[in-house]
Formats: sequence, structure tokens, C-alpha cells
Amino acid sequence: MKKVLETERLILREYTLDDTQFVITLLNTEGWLAFIGDKNVRTEEDAKTYLLNGPIKSYAENGYGLSLVVTKDGLTPIGMCGLIKRDNLDCPDIGFAFLPEFTGKGYAFEIADAIITYAKDTLKLPRVYGITMPENEHSKRLLEKIGLSYQEMYSFPNQEKELMLLCYEFSN
Ligand SMILES: CC(C)(COP(=O)(O)OP(=O)(O)OC[C@H]1O[C@@H](n2cnc3c(N)ncnc32)[C@H](O)[C@@H]1OP(=O)(O)O)[C@@H](O)C(=O)NCCC(=O)NCCS
Repeated sequence: MKKVLETERLILREYTLDDTQFVITLLNTEGWLAFIGDKNVRTEEDAKTYLLNGPIKSYAENGYGLSLVVTKDGLTPIGMCGLIKRDNLDCPDIGFAFLPEFTGKGYAFEIADAIITYAKDTLKLPRVYGITMPENEHSKRLLEKIGLSYQEMYSFPNQEKELMLLCYEFSN
């Protein structure tokens, strides 16, 4: 199990196939379903397929991917955060989602801010994007708090929904 980074209160580590129960819970929260979308992950089998084709595949292909956020005190899994490489963007975008009982405590900011530093200083990426629904006020606020600025409206290929594309251009 690989640790990606740690902050004052949190550890970010790569997912393993032992994290299926957490994935089922997180991907069926109201916030995930409303603002990210239904991935139809309901069973252990679905969660394994999601992890293998998503985060775990990305670690092997890109050296980074969506990872699990756990508290240092208790090692409780509370959310996911990380970078996602998409075919149609030249650099990854940052993604995050937390269980509702762990929002409003600054945890998402703490880990997302650390990922920005990691992307800039460790991965040495030139920029990081953020993609969000315009009505997702919490996500927009967080993306701006960690330094991203609005670029343009954006749609994924073959999808109608208009999203906001934000970007943090690093100067290294
Ligand atoms: C987007 C999401 C991760 C944001 O989480 P969050 O907990 O609101 O974000 P933060 O970590 O920045 O926390 C901010 C709040 O914690 C409060 N807070 C409490 N203790 C804090 C601390 N020690 N440090 C910083 N903020 C603290 C802040 O005052 C702020 O409160 P406010 O929302 O009333 O202004 C969360 O809403 C979520 O999981 N949504 C569903 C999934 C989703 O939409 N993902 C994004 C798709 S693009």
C-alpha cells in the first residue's frame, strides 16, 4: 500500500482491492451521485472493477491517480482525492469527494492543497485543471481556494452537460 503524501491531520494513500466497502459507500453518497454521477458501483465486484479500471490502472499508467484519504488519528477512511489524466486534456485535473460526515472540517482543502504542491514540486507538472458543474458551489470554492482560476465552459466529448474548466498554471 503506497503512501502518496501526508499533511498535519491526513494521509493520502493509493487504493488497494481491500478498499471496496469504502468505495461502495462513497460512490453512493448524495454528493457523489449529484455532482460526479452514478458509476453503478453497488457490489464488491462492481467496486473491484471500478478500482482496477480507474485508480489502480492510473497508478500504473500515469504514476498518480485518485487515492484514499485517511485520518492520521485512527486511520479512518474519509474521502478520495487525486489527479486524473484524461485523453482530451494535456494535464490532469484534480478530483475530490468526501463522506458527508467529514465535510465542513477543512479536510478537503488540506489534502487538495497538498496535492497541488505535489503536482508542482514532485511531479513537476506545468499546470493542473479542475472540472466542476457550475452549480457545485463547494467544489468551485475549494478549487479557487487552492489556486485555480476559471478558464472556460467545457464539455466532455459526446456529453451535452456544460461544465466549468479551471486551471492553475505553475510558474516552474
Ligand atoms: C467538494 C467537497 C469535497 C468540499 O468539501 P468541504 O468539506 O466543503 O471543503 P473544505 O475542506 O474546503 O471545508 C470547508 C469548510 O470547512 C470549514 N472548516 C472547519 N475547520 C477547518 C479547518 N481546520 N481548516 C479549513 N476549513 C475548516 C470551513 O470554514 C468551510 O466551511 P464552509 O463550507 O461553511 O465555508 C465536498 O463538498 C464533497 O465531497 N462533495 C461531493 C463530491 C463533489 O462534489 N466533488 C467534486 C466534484 S467536481
